[in-house]
Amino acid sequence: MDFAALLAPREPELLRLARDLYASRPDLQKAFPSESAAFCQWLAVHGVLEYPALAPFYPPLPPTGLRATVCGGLPMASHLYTGAEDFKMLGELFELFAQRPLTSLRSVFDFGCGCARVLRWFQMALPTVPRHGADVRAETIAWCQHNLVGTYARNATMPPLPFADASMDLTYALSVFSHLSREQNLVWMAELARVTKPDGLILVSTHGAFALALCARSPEHQSTLQIGADEARTILRSLARESFAHRVLPAAIRESADGVADDYGQAFFNELFARDHWSQFAEFVGCVPCGLNLFQDMYALRPRPR
Ligand SMILES: C[S@@+](CC[C@H](N)C(=O)[O-])C[C@H]1O[C@@H](n2cnc3c(N)ncnc32)[C@H](O)[C@@H]1O
Repeated sequence: MDFAALLAPREPELLRLARDLYASRPDLQKAFPSESAAFCQWLAVHGVLEYPALAPFYPPLPPTGLRATVCGGLPMASHLYTGAEDFKMLGELFELFAQRPLTSLRSVFDFGCGCARVLRWFQMALPTVPRHGADVRAETIAWCQHNLVGTYARNATMPPLPFADASMDLTYALSVFSHLSREQNLVWMAELARVTKPDGLILVSTHGAFALALCARSPEHQSTLQIGADEARTILRSLARESFAHRVLPAAIRESADGVADDYGQAFFNELFARDHWSQFAEFVGCVPCGLNLFQDMYALRPRPR
């Protein structure tokens, strides 16, 4: 995937602004080769925050309240940066598992899109590829509908999604199955397989053994997952026997997360679960342990022809 080409300024005015900015900043010249992928990413992450003249050329920035509903409410620069890194990861896995270039993409669907932390990068990098997002949270979907280009829909806690069979080329869900109960996990994987093209790809992240092992040792990760060290060890042991574990989040947290299912929580599962239980809907194509930000595992699946 050529990230520099995908994110290179397209509009002549943006190209002029970017070149002037680079020429005026020795620190940027030292940090990045001119017009490199890293400089294009810097423009879309820090450039838009530091230079108001750049903002009209990039998708609007989500308000703080909506950022707080995804990934623990990261500061704006981190929200943008992690979105870029996750976009690149998805592009690389798509090319690896679908065995064609990301530029061949015909449509993309982000399930549990939040305020489009990742989908905004598809809008910048592949503006002609139809984009779709769905989430249970009404206000994030309303913001996406008013601020981004694409089809954004609020879904209920149970399928169906308002999308046609076999309409999506790449379907992905980041940090969504990591919350779903076993019952929700299975109905939603069946639904993602329904809306994805038979020669398309589904990419899904979740917490597995590595995330639990890290939580057993690291107070920072315990706080991220709101789990204690002993509980992490207990779940880790149970995964070896049962391959799926789920704990419902406290009522106060669930109630503050608008629209989520009553059994919303933290899910942990391993490759055995994915192979055994998802194979009824989709062919297991691969697993990349810790593929998402060196913490969550990434799974790749291809829908079974219907
Ligand atoms: C941790 S956030 C991740 C958001 C986004 N995927 C990202 O990586 O920035 C989890 C998201 O999943 C959404 N969600 C939870 N259950 C869902 C469901 N059954 N259907 C659709 N979205 C769901 C939540 O509202 C929230 O926006």
